[in-house]
Amino acid sequence: MRYLTCLLLWVFPRVWGQWEDPIEMQVSAGCEVHSGNTSENFFNVASQGQHILSFQGTSFQKAPDAPPWTELAIKVLNTDQGTRETIQQLLNDTCPQVLYGLLEAGKAELDKQEKPVAWLSSVLSPRHGHLQLVCHVSGFYPQPVWVMWTQGEQEQNSTQRGDILPNADGTWYLRATLDVEAGEEAGLACRVKHSSLGGQDIILYWADGRHSSYVVFIILAVLILVVGLGLGFVFISRNRCSYRSIR
Ligand SMILES: *[C@@H]1O[C@H](CO)[C@@H](O)[C@H](O)[C@H]1NC(C)=O
Ligand SMILES: *[C@@H]1O[C@H](CO)[C@@H](O)[C@H](O)[C@H]1NC(C)=O
Ligand SMILES: *[C@@H]1O[C@H](CO)[C@@H](O)[C@H](O)[C@H]1NC(C)=O
Repeated sequence: MRYLTCLLLWVFPRVWGQWEDPIEMQVSAGCEVHSGNTSENFFNVASQGQHILSFQGTSFQKAPDAPPWTELAIKVLNTDQGTRETIQQLLNDTCPQVLYGLLEAGKAELDKQEKPVAWLSSVLSPRHGHLQLVCHVSGFYPQPVWVMWTQGEQEQNSTQRGDILPNADGTWYLRATLDVEAGEEAGLACRVKHSSLGGQDIILYWADGRHSSYVVFIILAVLILVVGLGLGFVFISRNRCSYRSIR
């Protein structure tokens, strides 16, 4: 019975003598399921690339702008109670059931949430006297993510987003870079929003990472200075002593 549809759609254009071979038919049929367990379905037929009819509710309907011969084809198709019932059953029941089954089977994968980790680094910019600040975000799932360099509350529009790249474990990686004049990094931060974070954005301040190394650097510099001065003082006073002793 199901083949009747195709047979009729093959016979009618020929009888009308409108087209030569080959005749190209396209059928798209399926369903969408929505939350709340509601579903919608569709069944459309095209001939020579033109939409000619669809199945709606309980019967075939002519598409707007369909050629005249489709009217008769639809009339014949609609007298076939068996095919109409089979199509309704497939669209109303079988299709949503299969789809729900698939969604149920893939639920764990679809609901998976992995939190990103973020870190900062910098590279020399091709622009003279500029730095490129890099915000790395890795290990997140699902893919949609928002990453932006900010100054206070202000988003830095010149933030350049890289491509989202896959990690080996099925999570994602993204980098966002900002080109800044060297010495102008103060107050900049990288902000990350992701569904897994439940509204608790990750905020990494550029200064944070640098502070500790600056402190260590300053302490080291002071120590070297003190030791240097001390050694110099000892050296000079010894020399003085030796000059004195020579005299
Ligand atoms: C949703 O609808 C499908 C088919 O209509 C049915 O098989 C399934 O049990 C329903 N699920 C729930 C949770 O109501
Ligand atoms: C299929 O759904 C349509 C509405 O989309 C309804 O009119 C029709 O009666 C249903 N048929 C069956 C067999 O459930
Ligand atoms: C950044 O873009 C927003 C809107 O897209 C705009 O209101 C703002 O002025 C822009 N800021 C800069 C510094 O260009």
